[in-house]
Amino acid sequence: MEKVLVINGSHRATGSTSDLVDLFKNALDDKIKCNVMNLVDYQLDYFNYEGEYGEEDKFLDIIDEVIESDMVVLAAPIYWYTMPARMKTFFDRITNLFSTERYNKLKGKKIVLLFTHGSPCYNESYVESYKATCDYIGLSFMGYFQSQGTRDGGVKCSQEELNNFVKKLNSGILSEDG
Ligand SMILES: Cc1cc2nc3c(=O)[nH]c(=O)nc-3n(C[C@H](O)[C@H](O)[C@H](O)COP(=O)(O)O)c2cc1C
Repeated sequence: MEKVLVINGSHRATGSTSDLVDLFKNALDDKIKCNVMNLVDYQLDYFNYEGEYGEEDKFLDIIDEVIESDMVVLAAPIYWYTMPARMKTFFDRITNLFSTERYNKLKGKKIVLLFTHGSPCYNESYVESYKATCDYIGLSFMGYFQSQGTRDGGVKCSQEELNNFVKKLNSGILSEDG
């Protein structure tokens, strides 16, 4: 059975990004096991060069889930033209893994990006920040899906659009441009 891990980097566990995640999960085949980790529920210390973190820090637990999964969906809103701080910290912390056994197990992992935004438009540099980072780390960026959020914390896209996105993802015809 294929295992999909969703890492939701929104700073609220219930909002537009989680709604988009729900639509994505609905679109998946029943045989796929999909686990969602909301970064807001995990203690994630800021990166430091020494690689020394508090006892409560859960970064390695998250990474072990990533390693166990066939595909990782990074879900996040746009906060000030860029990724939310928790998602940025998640990427920063991967730096400490370089030259460790865990890092070798991360290489080539399939990554999909789902994101939400308040404005009708978004800047391509948002996607590029994920894609370039994944490329550098050695993760395989598969593509993205985006939707404008609504004022009440929902999303404007439809279930059908997510179904089509997942279909493209499964058939491998999704380009990294979404
Ligand atoms: C701190 C903050 C910064 C934001 N910056 C942007 C932005 O630069 N561009 C944009 O389109 N929307 C921006 N928004 C709106 C969010 O991207 C949008 O409401 C999103 O759907 C929220 O997702 P969430 O409910 O999962 O947090 C911002 C929202 C917050 C709270």
